[in-house]
Amino acid sequence: MVKVSKVKDNIYQIRIMDREETNFHATLYPAKDGVSYSAYLVLDEKITLIDTYEIKYHNEVKTYLDEILQGRDIDILILQHVEPDHSESFRKIYEMYPNIKCYCSTKGKSELMLNFLFDYEFTPVKTGETLNTGKYTYEFFETPMVHWPDNMWSYLAEEKILFSNDGFGQLLTDDVLYDEEIPLEKLLAFAKEYYTNIIFPNNMAVPGVLDKFASKNWDIEIIATGHGIMLKKYIQEMYKLYDDLAHEKKDHTAVIVYETIWGNTKQEAYTIKKALENHGVQSSIYQLSESRISEVIDDVATASYLFLGTGNQNSCMIPIVADFVERLRSLKARKTKIAIFGAYGWNKLPFDEVIRRLEDAKYTVYPTPLLTHFKESSSDVDLADAFIKDYIENLM
Ligand code: FEO
Repeated sequence: MVKVSKVKDNIYQIRIMDREETNFHATLYPAKDGVSYSAYLVLDEKITLIDTYEIKYHNEVKTYLDEILQGRDIDILILQHVEPDHSESFRKIYEMYPNIKCYCSTKGKSELMLNFLFDYEFTPVKTGETLNTGKYTYEFFETPMVHWPDNMWSYLAEEKILFSNDGFGQLLTDDVLYDEEIPLEKLLAFAKEYYTNIIFPNNMAVPGVLDKFASKNWDIEIIATGHGIMLKKYIQEMYKLYDDLAHEKKDHTAVIVYETIWGNTKQEAYTIKKALENHGVQSSIYQLSESRISEVIDDVATASYLFLGTGNQNSCMIPIVADFVERLRSLKARKTKIAIFGAYGWNKLPFDEVIRRLEDAKYTVYPTPLLTHFKESSSDVDLADAFIKDYIENLM
């Protein structure tokens, strides 16, 4: 569904809301309540479109554009990011308005040319450069690795609006324009999940970008995000969330993640949970095959400790655990300290492999796994308690 709303008299939000969509960026980020993203249309002497949308929505969006523009052309396109949720309709827009001039970051220019494969001269802009469209002037701000090398934001001083593309985004599909219409807790939970799944893997770059952004001292009344709902009331709270996540503030909790074949590794997972409680550490627990992976990733990114369990499938870890290990390697949450556990039958080969793969990715992993041979015995329960105690003393 496409929804067009007025942000100001001459500024429109073109919002795509798909509550049925369960995957965002294919299977990378299973979405809880659907997906939403926005482009913005600004009427001035020169008409500007900020970002586009996936091509499957073009015909619906075109109807709205024709209605608003009444025969006028779009003169300028600011493409703040090359991924298809923001750029895929560029060619369609170009075909409608062949004189359109398209601005993007330098990195965006090279990546857009590789994406669209036709002869079009994108105009690169850098942080601090401005673009006048009549009564309005945009100032550009590159945000490399927040979350791709090409990302940038645009500030419209005359209206005190920051167009932030993926920055400060969330996948909220509530049918409201602004954050003031939903509970703060819900807004921040969705924004955190978006950050941990989309931006966190490049977290090293974020503090520097946020510092530069703060030094701009822009007067911002509205953040017109590229995803979810716009920010007005809770901008300071959102900045604080970003600052905490960028600096990887941990919350002294543990996450237990496992997969099991016959229930033995599951039993061990709950023994670990109990042992952690005995030592004053709260934990959440996920069986991978029954969990939404983006929620697990969100929890792991901010937890202090991860206990990862697998059974033995023909001397290999269970495939869904291998998938999770690869996601951990991509997440790079290296301040989350890890221990491996599981039940085995014939051999212990998978556990050393999990440790090796995570150490290769520069995680701190407790050197030996906590194992049970087939079913957990009462001495295994005692061993788990001693393991947690040693883990706490050495890694926590
Ligand atoms: Fe990198 Fe909203 O996409």
